[in-house]
Amino acid sequence: MSETREPSTGALQRCIEPRCGKTYGLNERLYVCRSCGGLLSIEQPREGLAKEDLRTLWRQRRASLDERDRSGVWRFRELLPFSSDVSIVTLTEGNTPLYDAPRAAAYSGLAWLKLKHQGCNPTGSFKDTGMTTAVTQARILGARVVVCASTGNTSASLAAYAARANLDCAILVPEGQVSSAKLAQSLDYGAKVLEIDGNFDAAMRVVRELAEDESIYLVNSINPFRIEGQKTVAAELLEQLEWQVPEHVVVPGGNLGNSSAFGKGFSELLKLGLIDRLPRLHVIQAEGAAPFARFFKEQHDLSGEFENVEHPRTLASAIKIGAPVSWQKAWAAVRESDGLVLTVSEAEIADAKAMVGRDGVGCEPASATTVAGIKKLVAAGVISPEEKVVAVLTGHLLKDPDYVSKYHSGQLRDVGEDGGLIEGHFKNRPIRVKADAVSILRTLE
Ligand code: F0G
Repeated sequence: MSETREPSTGALQRCIEPRCGKTYGLNERLYVCRSCGGLLSIEQPREGLAKEDLRTLWRQRRASLDERDRSGVWRFRELLPFSSDVSIVTLTEGNTPLYDAPRAAAYSGLAWLKLKHQGCNPTGSFKDTGMTTAVTQARILGARVVVCASTGNTSASLAAYAARANLDCAILVPEGQVSSAKLAQSLDYGAKVLEIDGNFDAAMRVVRELAEDESIYLVNSINPFRIEGQKTVAAELLEQLEWQVPEHVVVPGGNLGNSSAFGKGFSELLKLGLIDRLPRLHVIQAEGAAPFARFFKEQHDLSGEFENVEHPRTLASAIKIGAPVSWQKAWAAVRESDGLVLTVSEAEIADAKAMVGRDGVGCEPASATTVAGIKKLVAAGVISPEEKVVAVLTGHLLKDPDYVSKYHSGQLRDVGEDGGLIEGHFKNRPIRVKADAVSILRTLE
C-alpha cells in the first residue's frame, strides 16, 4: 500500500496524466497535481464488496430513517472515500425520480425514453449530489471559507450546503448572465455574491487563484470530492432500472464535471460487477459554447489540440462555458463508452425543453440539450428507435422562468449575429379573458 492512502478507507488522490500518476493523501488540500498540473481523481480499493450484498444493502437503506440512508448519495457510501464515522453535511439530496416521457420519446423518435430528473434535488439541480461530499470534505479539512465560480447552480448549491455547515461562502458569478432565480437562492442562503465583470471562464480563473490561500476551499468540479458525490447518480440510476443497462445515457456538457462523474460511476460499477457493460455516454453542447464537441470532431479528423471558445454564447446560461476544466476526464469517459459529443442549436434546445414540459416534467434550458441531442442522434441512425435511452435533466424548470415566458410569448431571440426571433413550435401563450363564466367557456370551446 502506498503511504499516501487514507488509513480507514485505503483511498488516495491520483493525477490522471498517464505520464505522471503522482499520488496524494486524501486530506492534502490541492485541486491539481503539484508536479504536472494534471487533474486529480480519487481511487479506492474495491476488495470485499460483493455485488449481491451491495444491491441488497443499498435498497434496504431506503426504508431507514438514518440521515445517511435518507440521502441518495450517502446511501451508496461504500463507493465514497470517507470513513464510516464522518459527520456529513446533507440536505437529503439524491433519490431523484426516473420518469417515463412518452411525448418527449415520440418527439425524439424513440419507444423508450426515461428522464432522470436531477432538478428534483434540494436546491433544484444536480450540483447537490456533489456538494454534499465536497462540503463534508471542506469541514474535514477545517476550511474557513468555501468558494466557487458559477453560472448559477453550483453557487446556489454551495450557498445552501455552506449554510448547513456553518461555513462562510463566497460565490463568483458573471454579472448579468445568471438567471435571477438562481441568484435569489444564493442571496437567501446567505452567501457573499460577487458579480464579476467577465464571463464564467474569467470567474473560474480568479477562484483558482484565490484557492491558493490555505483558508479558502474551492468546490468547483475540478475538486475531485465533487465528482465522488455526483458519480453515485450512476448507481442510483442503475438501481432504478433493476441493474439493466440502457444502451445510451445522454448528458449536457458545460464545465464537463457531470459527464466525468457519470463516466467514473459507470466504470466503477462495471469493475464491481454490478453491471456487465457500459452504456454509451453522449455529451451534448449548445452550438455557441461547444469546445468539447469541436475537440471530439477534430480528434476524429486531425488529432487536434483542445481549443477553448473565447466568447461562448448560448441562451442556456448554465452551460455558457468556453474553457471546461474537466475536459480530459470527460474525454476519457466518452472514449471508454464509445460515446459521442455533438451540438444542438438554440431553436432545437427551446423546442425540446417545451416538449419535456409537455410530459409534465419540465427542466431548464441546459438540460433540454439532451432531448434535442437524442432527436438528432435518432435521425442520424446512431440511436435506433427501439433502443433504451436515458436523458439526464440537470436543472429544474423554475431555475429560468424568464426563458420560459419569452419562449411561450414568441420573444426568445437567438444568440447569432442577427439574433433573430426563435420560432417556437410549442408556444402556449396566456389568454386575456374577461372575468365572467360565459367569456371563459367561450374561450375553452
Ligand atoms: N446543466 C445545468 C443545469 C448546469 O447548471 C450545468 C453546469 C450543466 C448542465 C453542465 O454541467 O458543468 O458538469 O458539464 N453548471 C455550472 C454552474 C457550471 O456553475 O452551475 P457540467
